[in-house]
Amino acid sequence: MEISHPMRDHAAMDKPNVPTSFDYSRIPEMPASVFVAPLRKPAELGDDWLEPAQRKYSLEEHRIWDELYQRQIGLMPGHACREFAHGLERLNLGRGGVPDFSEMSEELRSLTGWSVVPVPMLIPDHVFYYHLANRRFPAGNFIRSREQFDYIQEPDVFHDVFGHVPLLTDPIFASYMEAYGRAGWKALKYNRLKALSALYWYTVEFGLILEDDQLRIYGAGILSGPTETVFSVEGRSPNRIHLNVDRVMRTDYTISDLQATYFVIESFRELFHLTEQRGFEPIYESLAPAFQYAKTAALDTDHIYHRGTQEYELRGGRGSGAKPA
Ligand SMILES: [Fe+2]
Repeated sequence: MEISHPMRDHAAMDKPNVPTSFDYSRIPEMPASVFVAPLRKPAELGDDWLEPAQRKYSLEEHRIWDELYQRQIGLMPGHACREFAHGLERLNLGRGGVPDFSEMSEELRSLTGWSVVPVPMLIPDHVFYYHLANRRFPAGNFIRSREQFDYIQEPDVFHDVFGHVPLLTDPIFASYMEAYGRAGWKALKYNRLKALSALYWYTVEFGLILEDDQLRIYGAGILSGPTETVFSVEGRSPNRIHLNVDRVMRTDYTISDLQATYFVIESFRELFHLTEQRGFEPIYESLAPAFQYAKTAALDTDHIYHRGTQEYELRGGRGSGAKPA
């Protein structure tokens, strides 16, 4: 009988064997030691978690889309980056009601090879990576109710389509998203999923970009809601720090409130260069399993554009009555 050595077992669990190449046409294998949120797949869906068709929205649901769109579109000038505004215009997402995924995908495919596919809810990370690596963006097949008009934690079709899809028309950002999906395979093997999620959070969801020396937004989590659209660019409270990938992948983040820190890039070319061109493997090798930096931290080694007062955070954030400022 072979006796296993606990220390050795722990090391093996922390960094499983890494293959040198991956088959991105298949859903990646999920190592047993990797922690993922326990999501229950509806019985009628296959392993790819895709819904057979986009749902037929009621008139009231289409109206909710139109109202969310109207509220958000007016805030885009002076806040959204130009690539996002250009994508919104190209896809004409305000033509009335929840956009038709097949029409939208046809246009997207001709521009960058991406498509939008319906999913019932949040899907497991490894399935999400599989779709991104194949240039498919999974979007929620439901819309928030009127009671959830101002805030919804689960990503619905408005967040996913209005927030994420316009930038998929930009060739460089489109390549970054595919590269991110591929990077997921390696993160699974190195057990560094949380670090890779922090990168997604601080770029794809909550990223800022410099445009003619002005802060502009490219993150979908910001652009799909009015409060953070203003707070992220104009607020005194949050830090704005130049993106350093190694640092960001070690940084904790806020899930259900406004961010304490935003990371800023100079261009999508820079983002692509800092991640895919440099390669994710050396980064995973150097990372510890847990986050090292608090979400409010501003480090001596950071390139800081604005050191925030953190007053919103210090007063208790959402639910405390603190005014986002
Ligand atoms: Fe999102």
